[in-house]
Amino acid sequence: MVGLTRPQGGQSFAMRGGGRDSWSGQIAFVLAAAASAVGLGNLWRFPYLAARYGGGVFIAVYLILSLTLGAALLVTEIAIGRYSRQSQLTAFRALGHGRWNFLGVMATVVPLFILPYYNVIGGWVVRYFASYAGVIAGSSPGAETQGFFDAFVADPWSPFVCMAVFTAVASAVVALGVRKGIEKANVVLMPALLAITVALAIYVAALPGAGAGIKFYLVPDFSSCGSVGKVVLAAMGQMFYSLSLAMGIMITYGSYMRRGDSIPGASVRIVAADTFMAVLAGFMIIPLAVAFAGAEGGARPAVDAGPGLMFATLPKIFASLGAAGRWLGFTFFSLVLFAALTSAISMTEACVASVCDFFGIRRRPSVAAVLAWTVAVGSLSAFGYGRWSSARLFGLPMLEFFDSSMNVLTPVVAALTCVFAGWVLGPKRILAECRRESSRGIGGAFAASYAFMVRFVAPVLVAAILASEICRTFGFGGWSI
Ligand code: PHE
Repeated sequence: MVGLTRPQGGQSFAMRGGGRDSWSGQIAFVLAAAASAVGLGNLWRFPYLAARYGGGVFIAVYLILSLTLGAALLVTEIAIGRYSRQSQLTAFRALGHGRWNFLGVMATVVPLFILPYYNVIGGWVVRYFASYAGVIAGSSPGAETQGFFDAFVADPWSPFVCMAVFTAVASAVVALGVRKGIEKANVVLMPALLAITVALAIYVAALPGAGAGIKFYLVPDFSSCGSVGKVVLAAMGQMFYSLSLAMGIMITYGSYMRRGDSIPGASVRIVAADTFMAVLAGFMIIPLAVAFAGAEGGARPAVDAGPGLMFATLPKIFASLGAAGRWLGFTFFSLVLFAALTSAISMTEACVASVCDFFGIRRRPSVAAVLAWTVAVGSLSAFGYGRWSSARLFGLPMLEFFDSSMNVLTPVVAALTCVFAGWVLGPKRILAECRRESSRGIGGAFAASYAFMVRFVAPVLVAAILASEICRTFGFGGWSI
């Protein structure tokens, strides 16, 4: 048995104040982590990447990567959280004896800067949801009309107000606490999310012409996917984002996990749930886009519209379906809203818990501080296409600037986390935490492959994503995905 000394320093408020919050059990933990993982990345980003990188080719690469590398990284983050019983800001300091303080800071900066602009996008979803609800209730057509998106983001106040509403709801859930807030919200939202996705996928599969879309999505197309390196990089970047890695979320959520619950078992379930939802989303989005947007220049450009797919292409498709399309739009944007909300809740929690643990303050004042920060920084992005559209950094609107910077910072945090787990804390410690107070042991093959993965494979692969992101950000072409 590996020696398990208690981590030094950084005792959290909750620990001093008599017991940290915890999930009610393994299922609640898996549900919470899956709720964080399933978000815009699954519903919109996975389908369009699959369309861009050869359909089945991308799906196969993604499955292999997420079940190996993704699961190993999840195990690492959850174990760091449960072992230290702290959120990321103080966990690295405690486990690294102060020298790894900087990594905790970096892993906190990431969600602190992603949350504000994620909530701006969450606000866009609120606007679309409200618009479809209005259309169904009989008011004038909204989101499905041409130019709606451009007019909305350029409006002086709307994007800000919608972001504030979305932020308030996520913050309210977090203010209620781990069990009474986050857990309860997930128990309602996650089954709803699954049911809506399955229903929409079945509905779309039954539409005329859907078969061609399903073929386009599933059949490997080696001629269009580009080099192997590009597919692997794209799949890996997507996997990080989709599993909410390198943002302190899984460390924070792990810190609420009970000892005795299996970390590898939970990780595999989280990966499976996240991947299932991503693949299912493809069955809903791709046939729809292929069947109805073919007229506008073929299947590939329609699905490959990137961010525009969700807010411009899909509403156009819904509009072409008449009354059924309105219901489809309403149901689809309820789904997106739930998914975005549960992800925003997890990011808010990672920030709130870090503030609590670092300053030793209670949950509610910490939520208030994070809320104020989110609205203040989020306003830069919310006003960024309207009243403050002249404010640009490196030529980019604020939202895109934050997004690009975080795309570079996330792999740095991920790579350093692997180095920390593989070489500082050591795979033995992580594995010992995995089987702590559990009746089931860890197999030798699992232990050996985990150690190899976290020490060698993960840092090298993550460094490759980083190089690609840097190339893309600074425009060196060729290498970037
Ligand atoms: N994992 C989420 C998704 O797939 C995105 C996310 C990013 C969630 C950052 C939390 C934090 O969309």
